[in-house]
Amino acid sequence: MSYQNLLVETRDGIAIVTINRPDKLNALNDRTMHELDAAFAAIGSDPAVRGAILTGAGEKAFVAGADIGELSTQSPVDGKERSIRGQRVLDRIENLGKPVIAAVNGFALGGGCELALACHVRIASENARLGTPEVKLGIMCGYAGTQRLPRLVGKGRALELLLSGEMLDAQEALRIGLVNRVLPKDKLLPECEALLRKMLANGPVSLRFTLEVVNAGLEMPLAEAQYLEATLFGLICSTEDMKEGTRAFLEKRAAKFQGR
Ligand code: COA
Repeated sequence: MSYQNLLVETRDGIAIVTINRPDKLNALNDRTMHELDAAFAAIGSDPAVRGAILTGAGEKAFVAGADIGELSTQSPVDGKERSIRGQRVLDRIENLGKPVIAAVNGFALGGGCELALACHVRIASENARLGTPEVKLGIMCGYAGTQRLPRLVGKGRALELLLSGEMLDAQEALRIGLVNRVLPKDKLLPECEALLRKMLANGPVSLRFTLEVVNAGLEMPLAEAQYLEATLFGLICSTEDMKEGTRAFLEKRAAKFQGR
């Protein structure tokens, strides 16, 4: 598929998805959201692609939010539908079953911050600024920021960000756990790729089940989540990868995982 607002490059099993509207600081208009949905659907269903990096084009922004031009004219019905559509796109990323790293290379505001929150790991460049300024526009988060942000950084810190609309610099985002690491700009993409390749050297089923139980388990009572973990642990014992991984350790060699 060809995209108007995305660049998608696949390199040795990794998809690099770049949101490409730099003149609008990569703001998420409806078309871009539709293309993101299509791109991640394709990544999810392509067995040759095992993980993804999501970033923004240009020097300034990861994504500076939902497109305020489109938001400014929406009716209540449009607003609700746009929010549900956007939530589904971000849910697709979170539940992809393959690791997705957000390379936060500048402003990650509003929908951009929410998009980064749906990724499994967030790595920021030193110039990154993150926040949820929707309240300054008289609106509020609509792409699940009110839910993912408190789950990631805790209710008190999330409410400070959600209610003030203020931006954090990269170091402050690191301090509160909103991003995992901060790197010089020129190291951001190479380090994201190196981290992703470390993940992808592990058993593909192990990655898939771990993502599944972390995502689903956090929404369950602890006892049920532990039961799900034990069930997936039992299931993974049936895989060739489990036999290969444990045998390779005992034979002091690198494992060759097949993903089955
Ligand atoms: N939606 C639509 N357009 C956006 C946008 C958004 N969320 N964020 C930036 N843009 C556009 C600007 O309108 C401008 O377009 P123009 O050149 O046609 O006028 C262009 O991107 C560059 O932005 P500009 O504001 O000139 O850059 P800046 O460096 O002065 O400021 C920001 C950067 C991020 C502080 C500022 O753009 C901003 O506050 N953006 C909105 C952030 C926001 O509220 N996001 C949540 C939306 S729900």
